[in-house]
Amino acid sequence: MYRQVEIVATTDYSIILYGESGTGKEVVAKKIHDLSHRKNKPFVAMDCGTLSKELAGSELFGHVKGAFTGAQADKEGHFEMANEGTLFLDEVANLSYDIQASLLRVIQERKFKRVGGTKEISLDIRIIVASNENLQDAYRKGKFREDLYHRFNEFCIYLPPLRQRKEDIPLFANFFLKNTCGELNKEIKGFAPDVIDMFVNYSWPGNLRECRNVIRRSVLLCNDALITANLLPTEIILQYANKEYQNDQHQNGVRDNQHNNHTENIPLVRKDIFLKDTAAKAEYEAIMKVLKEVNFNKTKAAIILNVDRKTLYNKIKNYEN
Ligand SMILES: Nc1ncnc2c1ncn2[C@@H]1O[C@H](COP(=O)(O)OP(=O)(O)OP(=O)(O)O)[C@@H](O)[C@H]1O
Ligand SMILES: [Mg+2]
Repeated sequence: MYRQVEIVATTDYSIILYGESGTGKEVVAKKIHDLSHRKNKPFVAMDCGTLSKELAGSELFGHVKGAFTGAQADKEGHFEMANEGTLFLDEVANLSYDIQASLLRVIQERKFKRVGGTKEISLDIRIIVASNENLQDAYRKGKFREDLYHRFNEFCIYLPPLRQRKEDIPLFANFFLKNTCGELNKEIKGFAPDVIDMFVNYSWPGNLRECRNVIRRSVLLCNDALITANLLPTEIILQYANKEYQNDQHQNGVRDNQHNNHTENIPLVRKDIFLKDTAAKAEYEAIMKVLKEVNFNKTKAAIILNVDRKTLYNKIKNYEN
């Protein structure tokens, strides 16, 4: 992925960036701009996801005073702001069909007029777009213009979710740790080994953004030389406890030569069930508190909580269902 970024950056190709939320689409778009001959010109990002149909034209192309009610002064659009540089269109699949048509025209003709204006402005711009959704599927469903898709698709980069690049997780964790220590003026040497295990095991639905937030929070709370598991959010700990449970069950299964299927996927954590039931919530909190205190040693936790290990395992498992 980084190699593709470097290769394509030097060209003027339009690029589609695909990736889940928080995988770094905007970071990559900016990187491409910074590596290009346009680096000293503007990089302008525009979120198409939040654009209303009425405002999209004016946001993209600008308007002249009096073009419509509320147009009290001339306004530059994003195309004009980004001229000679790079325009990054985020969530591009959300643009209305009409706006897609005017975008296509502008990209083809390389010139445009402000809404209500008469002066033609010529355009020298590189376009990078990002989408969560596969644009090919979108045009097959009639949601996106195929001709516009082909304009954008001169090059395409897929940014994998963090759970599919597990070997990168420790690298990012250390990177965010170092950065945050700098920001907060703290000296933390690294992570306790079980913390790295927990990170690698976790599914990171919010990807790099979530990873960064988790580490910023734990650095802020940390008063020791290492980040320890008790500083992590519950969802990371629960997924880990759950995996350990599955492993134990699996090993028991092998030992006892049982035929139960213990490897089936257990659904992700659902916290809403605790809110419905105050007693269960209190129990859950007590268990988590003790688990953290004993560094996730479930045998010790069971002794402190005065339940047998199997009961504790079952309770942890139930929280996942
Ligand atoms: N390569 C990277 N190195 C370090 N941090 C990164 C990298 N990529 C992303 N991040 C971190 O993740 C955050 C989210 O990245 P970004 O905004 O680019 O994601 P996105 O894919 O555009 O997400 P969304 O779809 O939600 O808009 C960034 O603010 C940054 O902190
Ligand atoms: Mg983004």
